[in-house]
Amino acid sequence: MAGREKVTVRDIVRAKKTGRKIVMVTAYDYPTARVVDSAGVDSILVGDSVGMVVHGLESTLQVTMDMMLLHVAAVARARPRALVVGDMPFMSYEASVSEAVRNAGKMLSAGADAVKLEGGALYTDVVKALTRAGIPVMGHVGLTPQKHKLLGGYRLAGKTAQEALEIIHDAEALEDAGAFAVIIEFTAHEVAKKITERLNIPTICIGSGPYCDGQVLVLHDLVGLTPQPPPFAKQYTNIAEEIRRAVEAFAEEVRSAKFPGREMYWGMKQGEYEKLEKQLKEHQ
Ligand code: KIV
Repeated sequence: MAGREKVTVRDIVRAKKTGRKIVMVTAYDYPTARVVDSAGVDSILVGDSVGMVVHGLESTLQVTMDMMLLHVAAVARARPRALVVGDMPFMSYEASVSEAVRNAGKMLSAGADAVKLEGGALYTDVVKALTRAGIPVMGHVGLTPQKHKLLGGYRLAGKTAQEALEIIHDAEALEDAGAFAVIIEFTAHEVAKKITERLNIPTICIGSGPYCDGQVLVLHDLVGLTPQPPPFAKQYTNIAEEIRRAVEAFAEEVRSAKFPGREMYWGMKQGEYEKLEKQLKEHQ
């Protein structure tokens, strides 16, 4: 995936064959899409995590198609080289296959290069229909946050052999149905390793250990903008602190009349102020 050419799903699949690790990060808007793309990531996930980290929602269950389309379009306007994956929100692909195809089509029309959906074997009909429609699909197994109520919270998945088998089966079913890659979230590392060995398509992990073809993190966790990041999210910098410091400096300069400095404001053309004064007097 060298150079400035657009990353395609074929490049992502090829990365597994060549042993090159895939780097994916979330972005939800134009400026951050530009920045993460300039850092050379392979893929940008416009995740439904946007609901929690940007909109302050309690979970991803309140995220709608309209919200996702707005964020996908903003990211796409940055014209990133990275492959843009739009996350299918809760209830956008469950009710029927035809609704799933319509909604995934809207994601591509908004500028996504592919879609992601949570779930495994139970969703192969949807994955097949999307693939048939020419929509590349990334699967998502292990912890599937849209089902946190059913799962009893955000628990580490695959701790028992039975659970591990189910997750492995889910990943294999997704590959058979035509998915081009699979996200493995918060599973025991042994499960992610087994899936990575058994699948021909790449695995991209979050909180599932190092034995995967790639890694993904939520940008706001990575840069310190999430008050309570999950235990597997490494914070590489503290942007919240940077922003706070900058805004404090601005507030201090406003209050002490240091801002705006003389170089930051502009006047009228020569002679115009006098004309204005005269006209104002005449109209009094
Ligand atoms: O929505 C999201 O950001 C995700 C990642 C956690 C993989 O699904």
